[in-house]
This record gives sequence, structure tokens and C-alpha cells, in this order.
Amino acid sequence: MHSPLIVDCDPGVDDAIALLLALAPAHPLPLLGITTVAGNVPLALTHRNARKICALAGKPETPVYAGCPRPLLRSLATAEEVHGATGLQGADLPKPVGTAPTQHAVDFLISQLLNAAEPITLAVLGPLTNIAVALIQSPQIAKNIKQLVIMGGARGQGNITPSAEFNIYVDPHAAHVVFTAGIPTVLFTLDTTHQVLTTPERLKRIQAIGNPVATAAAGMLAFYGQGDRNIYNLPGGPLHDPCVIAYLLNQDLFTTKQVPIAIETTGEQTIGRTVIDWYGEAPSTVQVADTVNAEGLYELLIDALASYS
Ligand code: RIB
Ligand code: CA
Repeated sequence: MHSPLIVDCDPGVDDAIALLLALAPAHPLPLLGITTVAGNVPLALTHRNARKICALAGKPETPVYAGCPRPLLRSLATAEEVHGATGLQGADLPKPVGTAPTQHAVDFLISQLLNAAEPITLAVLGPLTNIAVALIQSPQIAKNIKQLVIMGGARGQGNITPSAEFNIYVDPHAAHVVFTAGIPTVLFTLDTTHQVLTTPERLKRIQAIGNPVATAAAGMLAFYGQGDRNIYNLPGGPLHDPCVIAYLLNQDLFTTKQVPIAIETTGEQTIGRTVIDWYGEAPSTVQVADTVNAEGLYELLIDALASYS
């Protein structure tokens, strides 16, 4: 039985695929709502993109809350300027339906967690600004967070600087607040997500599904990851954020290790680095993902996309 879930995201194509996985009829997750944050593209676009994906999924009633438009301290340009991400290209998506809630995402997170009948899982797919602000504003919410499941960081090379992965780099101070809150956490770094590659063969299987959602997903995936494929000379674009939702659906797809982690917030060359002590024995509440059954993950994704009408 799945715990109630809130997804915090910055769509972005991989966020969009993660949302389609979470919303799939094949295995309906108890999604309380979606919160959006500035990241891949500015907040107005990440919020609109999340609502477009809900419309595409046939779930326009899913509440999508707009959150923080910038990091805690850094006034960093979004990925659109930083590494050229441009929202949800590659598919002709439906317009958002109805009107979005006016409540701020941070207030939604706090109200849900303070009044939770049971602990809530937070899936975090973008910079951690919303989560950090909620924890700063209302620290007592931590006791009602069942677990944080986060895409971010790197043990090896970063993807926005040699040291840092994008989500942590955009708001390292927020990441520090979150990772020092003592909340049970599962972290999916680039080292794992770069094992999950949308190869031409896998893309063909998604294209062959033939319903509107799968066709849109295939279009976005065909466009997405070209940059990473070229930079890293990979046979397919790495599917970062869906690892988080796939873990919620089937933990056995992954192996993890409980290790100490710290966030670099000052180094000129290393700001945003997740300093993961892979062989450390100091106490930690963070499980870092290691290996993944990538083929099993794509089977899960393909089954989910095929379950849409
Ligand atoms: O570094 C990859 C992460 O940054 C993903 O979550 C992607 O969507 C971007 O937010
Ligand atoms: Ca993301």
C-alpha cells in the first residue's frame, strides 16, 4: 500500500515522464498534489508544464501549486539560460484545463503535512527550494514526512559543473537545509540515473504503444537528452526523474546504501557538490541509490504508458 504522495518538480521532460508514470492508470499512486519550482525553466513555465502533463494524462483535476520562483540565496538563471533546457519540446501537448489553485506550494506542503492523517512521501524532482522553505517556516512538518525521495547530486562528475548536478547546483543552500533535517531520504544521483538510458530500441518500444500519451512521451524523449548524449557519448538520454517514481512503485529495481552526505555551499569551483562518503560509517538518514535494473524500469514505464487510453 503506497503512502500519500506529493511530487515537487520543475518540468522539464524527465519530470514530465515521471509525472506520467505517477499518474498512470496501471498503478494509481495516492497523489495529493503537485508543487512546482523554478529550475529547468522559470516557474511560470514549470507550473504551466506540470498542468499540461496533468491534462495529457487525463487528470486535469490534479491540483498543481506554484512555489518558489528563485533559489534561497543565489539569483541563478534557470537552466533555460544555464544549460539550454527548454521546457517540454518534442510533443504537441494539450493546454492546461481549468484554473490552478492560488495557494502557494510551500503553504500547501505545510498544510498537508501538519494535518496529515498518515505520514506523506515527498518525491522531489527539481531544486529543493520549496522543501527547504517549508522546513524553515514550519520545522514540525518533518515528523509527518514518511520519506524524501530525491533526484539530485553526483558521486562522480556533475552535469552543470564538473562538481555539481543541476538540482543541487541551482539551490545548494536549500539542499543543505533538507539534507540536515534528519528526514529518511532516498537520493538518486547521476551515477544511477546515467544507467537509465532511453536507447533507440527503447524509444521504438514506446513509440509502438500508439496511444496519445505514449506518443507524446516518445516525442519528448526523442528530443530530450540530445545534449547529454553528445556530452557523455551515451547511446540514449539519461532518464533522471522517473527513477524516483519507479522506486516508489518497485524498490527492488534499485540497490541503495546508507551513507553520510554533505552539501558544498561555498566553494567557488565546487558549490553544489554532494559530498557523499561512500565508505563512511557516520550516522546518516540518507540512502543513496547505487545500481538499477534499467530494463526493468523501462518495462515498468512502457506498461504504465500503455495503460493510458
Ligand atoms: O540533473 C538532472 C536534474 O535536473 C533533473 O531533475 C532535471 O529535470 C533537472 O531538473
Ligand atoms: Ca527535474
